[in-house]
Amino acid sequence: MMKIAVLVSGHGSNLQALIDANLSGQIVGVLSNKPSAYALQRAQAAGIPTRVIEHSDYVHRAEFDQEIQAQLLEWQADLVVLAGFMRILSPEFVMQWEGKMLNIHPSLLPKHKGMHTHAKVIEAGDTQHGCTVHFVTAQLDSGQSLAQGVLDVQKNDTQDSLARRVHQLEHIIYPMVVEWFCNKDLIYHPKEHVQLKKQPLNHPIQIYETA
Ligand code: GRF
Repeated sequence: MMKIAVLVSGHGSNLQALIDANLSGQIVGVLSNKPSAYALQRAQAAGIPTRVIEHSDYVHRAEFDQEIQAQLLEWQADLVVLAGFMRILSPEFVMQWEGKMLNIHPSLLPKHKGMHTHAKVIEAGDTQHGCTVHFVTAQLDSGQSLAQGVLDVQKNDTQDSLARRVHQLEHIIYPMVVEWFCNKDLIYHPKEHVQLKKQPLNHPIQIYETA
């Protein structure tokens, strides 16, 4: 059974969706860089081991990353899932998890990397918005996209309404992709194509919001 470690910093609604999804893998630990993250309470309520590693305790980013790496190895993680983890990880760390680390980002990548995506969508007048699950590479929000949740932006949408609708889509597509990984439907070949169910995955699978 695949062992999954989830890295969080905040509310943890995506963690909750993964817990509730009854994955064929096992969430073996939840790691937070913030002791106050509500996600830790969700993990504890589900009987999942937790660990807090505060970045402010480390002078150098490399030491913080090494401490995370040590914990992931102790948990014997096969997959690292970033679920609202708000620290940028060093390229050296990320390279160790090539093809084994996923992130979810609240935009239709490659559009709107970085922060404040809902505001950027409204500002740009985009007609569609959503979220993307992607493999993590050293470049921010740039690894191969695997699945997207897509919604049509309505005239009366606000940042809050978009945030709420995007979150709902996140809770559908993240467990879906993690399950692909757990049951080996999703195969990562370095320097080759990612395969989903033995077919090359050239474009992310898109799931549309239902009314
Ligand atoms: C999500 O919007 C995700 O796209 C972003 O961080 C947020 C995490 O939300 N990376 P939650 O903590 O899972 O509720």
